[in-house]
Amino acid sequence: MLPKISFSKLSAPSKGTVVIFADDALNIGPTASGVLSAADGLLTRAAGTGSFTGKVNTVLDLIAPAGLDLDRLIVVGLGKASAVADLGETDWTALGGVVMGALGSSEAAEILFELPSGDVEADLAATFAMGAKLRGYTFDRYKSKSGDDKPEKVKKLSIGVSDAKAAKKAWETADAISDGTLLARDLVNEPANVLTTLEFAKRAEELSKLGVEIEILDEKAMKKLKMYSLLGVAQGSEHPPRLVIMRWNGGKKDDQPVAFIGKGVVFDTGGISIKPAGGMEDMKGDMGGAAAVTGLMHALAARKAKANVIGVIGLVENMPDGRAQRPGDIVTAMSGATIEIINTDAEGRLVLADALWYTQDRFKPAFMINLATLTGAIIVALGNQHAGVFSNNDELVGRLSEAGEATDEKVWRLPLSKEYDKLIDTPNADMKNTGGRTAGSITAAQFLQRFVNDVPWVHIDVAGTAMSSPKTEISKGWASGFGVRLLDRLVREHYEA
Ligand code: BES
Ligand code: MN
Ligand code: ZN
Repeated sequence: MLPKISFSKLSAPSKGTVVIFADDALNIGPTASGVLSAADGLLTRAAGTGSFTGKVNTVLDLIAPAGLDLDRLIVVGLGKASAVADLGETDWTALGGVVMGALGSSEAAEILFELPSGDVEADLAATFAMGAKLRGYTFDRYKSKSGDDKPEKVKKLSIGVSDAKAAKKAWETADAISDGTLLARDLVNEPANVLTTLEFAKRAEELSKLGVEIEILDEKAMKKLKMYSLLGVAQGSEHPPRLVIMRWNGGKKDDQPVAFIGKGVVFDTGGISIKPAGGMEDMKGDMGGAAAVTGLMHALAARKAKANVIGVIGLVENMPDGRAQRPGDIVTAMSGATIEIINTDAEGRLVLADALWYTQDRFKPAFMINLATLTGAIIVALGNQHAGVFSNNDELVGRLSEAGEATDEKVWRLPLSKEYDKLIDTPNADMKNTGGRTAGSITAAQFLQRFVNDVPWVHIDVAGTAMSSPKTEISKGWASGFGVRLLDRLVREHYEA
């Protein structure tokens, strides 16, 4: 359950569940010292049993601690005493998750947000709260509300800080970004019988409540634009394709927009080149790129970002059917380029080809960044720890890498080159949609690049990071919402007035 979060002026509580922080020398902050003064030597004794070392992200959990009226005292480790002042944003996000996890069945807690040396910046309190909120997320919409599995109760986290007003202000922004991330997780988690192309479009449309302008292209509109690369993927499904355009105009009227484009394959069976049955259920997450773009637009609008931002998502379902596209078919993309379909399972690039072309053609953006669960090969290369990035622009990819380090949504660059590009040549058309057995993530990126002109562009392959992602301090796993915090940061650092 998502926690209810509030901030107040630091004070020493004498009741309830209290969370304090200690370094590895068992130093605690001044307010925490006040609370513990009635229980002399409590921490040292507990540590003496070897159950707590103060290592970062470890927890000492004391129920009804002797000498105190508290129901529960949770002590959270901050690590090396000499380094606690250096704990940064990603550390405090993780600590928020750790605290949320440690609370278990406690319904309310007071958190004394201070270092052994005293005050911590208000921004970090908001970051901490974001970690707690993200950790609290569970996808339990389809769990019957009875039995042992019933959802946990809402937790009330009251975070005591030296400057509550500043923390509340920072939380407005951080909360918007949290909500965007959780929207992306929800979209990725939803099964494909619920989150059809039309349902996804509807959920994107809800962003209009936040002031996002929404435009939706149906099949007829896409045919008129000659988007036969995208349409070819969709033709085997009962669910019609949609291209959703989201616009957030938070910048100056004439500011060139930046654009984010997402692969939204609501389910990928592989089409006629059908996938094996084992694990196919995961392909409900093949819209992770589109989910990140939608979550990002939510975050930017909710925090009223001072930038003009376009989000474009291509929504299709890849199904085998009497009308489905075949291997050997040749389609003409909106750009005019012809594509020989070698494998109908290499469908994401076909969707993005038209979405990218449309975006650059219509909006002339300052940059385009696309996100896609594009290749299994990127999981072989980078696992679930980094997303793969490919770019025609060193500066943009450098900024993105920095945003990745700052938010712990990490990216790693892989190469593009003429030699790789050759691998998607075919005698039968301008290009083919697969490049053969080797360098699968790179040839997929080369394919996308053929639909990008002079504009700075990054392709982020999130097949290993948006879905099937491991449990972390701030996520219970599978759908991570990857990309929202990363791209929000990029926009915030470099593209806002
Ligand atoms: N959606 C898949 C990629 C994927 C695989 C995402 C695993 C998440 C987890 C994509 O459409 C696909 O099927 N790619 C093929 C390309 C191949 C046919 C050239 C792949 O990676 O095997
Ligand atoms: Mn596929
Ligand atoms: Zn796919």
